[in-house]
Amino acid sequence: MNEQTVAADTVVAGSANAGVPAASTSPALEVAGLWKSFGDLQVLRGIDLTVAEHEVVCLIGSSGSGKSTLLRCINLLEPIDAGRIIVEGNEITAPGVNVNRIRRRIGIVFQSFNLFPHMSVLSNVTLAPRKALGMSKVQAAAEATALLERFGLADKRNEYPDRLSGGQQQRVAIVRALAMKPDLLLLDEITSALDPELVAEVLNVIRELGRGGMTMVIATHEMGFARDIASRVCFLDQGTILEQGSPSDIFSRPREARTQQFLQRIIEAGRL
Ligand SMILES: Nc1ncnc2c1ncn2[C@@H]1O[C@H](COP(=O)(O)OP(=O)(O)O)[C@@H](O)[C@H]1O
Ligand SMILES: [Mg+2]
Repeated sequence: MNEQTVAADTVVAGSANAGVPAASTSPALEVAGLWKSFGDLQVLRGIDLTVAEHEVVCLIGSSGSGKSTLLRCINLLEPIDAGRIIVEGNEITAPGVNVNRIRRRIGIVFQSFNLFPHMSVLSNVTLAPRKALGMSKVQAAAEATALLERFGLADKRNEYPDRLSGGQQQRVAIVRALAMKPDLLLLDEITSALDPELVAEVLNVIRELGRGGMTMVIATHEMGFARDIASRVCFLDQGTILEQGSPSDIFSRPREARTQQFLQRIIEAGRL
């Protein structure tokens, strides 16, 4: 399934908006023993990850280490081979789970913004709340406008995506995810497609969300940002979480040789 269909799927999802009862004592997310292969290629090899409510977990690691696949599995975009994914105490990988209902609670934003090009900013943001949550046009527009204002995009509400800068488009994509009021937000290299001067405006949005208590799992190669915003940093290596800890643990006192090598390469490339 591609990323455009996610948005479309969410939209087609029907009217039932019954929330799954959330046990407040449960972690926001638990991934246990997650294995995932593509053909012969084992991409995730026994991932265990627990994310508490309001935590911001950054996934770092070389290209190909499995960051995107992990996020896609958490959002049920990829079927998993083994393991369990539990969101607020409810196993979402159990048979018979309503996938669309889960996806409504887990927002995901990709490197390529995937806005609908033929729709205005406002329509992009209000589409899923109207179709999937059954929100009235007036209420959806009011809530979307408030979000657009919060992120400095109010004057763009009637523009079409191709009239916006990459940074503005990505901020709209984030607002579109937020319009569904997700419990958990997954962000996959959301600044990778941006010109360097546009990166900061998008990272500032994420900072603001972190301060507001949004639970997030963020795959990023922006190490300075990860050090700044993360409650916890996980270093992925060949499909496992080789090492995790506070930003200062990982960036200043990495224990594992492969983490040290990775950070050394980042430093040599001038990216930390
Ligand atoms: N749909 C797919 N089909 C086959 N291989 C894939 C697919 N998606 C990812 N991979 C492979 O899985 C590995 C991990 O990819 P990915 O999760 O994108 O890593 P990262 O995001 O850390 O760069 C890579 O070797 C990649 O080529
Ligand atoms: Mg990736």
